[in-house]
Amino acid sequence: MRDLHAPRGAVAGAAATIRPATAADQPRLAALVRSIENFTPAEVACALELIAAAAGSPPGCDDYRVLIAERSPAEPLLGYACYGPTPMTRSTFDLYWIASSPAARGTGIGLRLHEAVVAAVRAAGGRRLRVETSTQESYGATLRFYERCGYREAGRIADFYADGDDLLTLVCPVGP
Ligand SMILES: CC(C)(COP(=O)(O)OP(=O)(O)OC[C@H]1O[C@@H](n2cnc3c(N)ncnc32)[C@H](O)[C@@H]1OP(=O)(O)O)[C@@H](O)C(=O)NCCC(=O)NCCS
Repeated sequence: MRDLHAPRGAVAGAAATIRPATAADQPRLAALVRSIENFTPAEVACALELIAAAAGSPPGCDDYRVLIAERSPAEPLLGYACYGPTPMTRSTFDLYWIASSPAARGTGIGLRLHEAVVAAVRAAGGRRLRVETSTQESYGATLRFYERCGYREAGRIADFYADGDDLLTLVCPVGP
């Protein structure tokens, strides 16, 4: 990944509103996901699928949950996170996707979104968040971001995605 850690102050992450996404946010979410430079077409399709699943879930069935960061409803989104309870576990949640808009990088949006995910997971009785990623994708900035959020490596399968590209499992404790 290119180093897109912009100097702080370009967009004030601290001034952003973080809230659960609604159906009305779908077009801005789609635009945001398509603007993430390091998402492959397959990743964009998968991210959009989970966003649609979150929006279309019947009440009481919230396997996928989406939080957004915005300055105002009239402006493009600053970032989003998609997470949900890990099937067949009691208190583990997956962080499926987290991204801030390229223009908002390095202003604290990612951190604020992650804090909101942690708070929501804790409120739902969750004890840990899991991220599964490839070593290639996690190289550099993304891994530093996860480390800053409190993730530590909990497992690795060598050559899982391709030769030299391992599956990395990261875990962040969120319990009391
Ligand atoms: C990873 C990502 C979400 C970080 O979002 P962000 O809004 O730029 O992050 P923040 O400004 O909140 O930075 C939080 C911390 O992460 C670390 N960090 C983030 N980007 C970094 C970079 N490019 N280089 C080094 N550290 C970085 C820093 O420790 C930073 O804290 P600090 O500024 O106090 O040192 C963002 O770069 C992104 O959207 N990347 C593309 C999508 C992606 O790869 N998502 C992850 C897989 S789904």
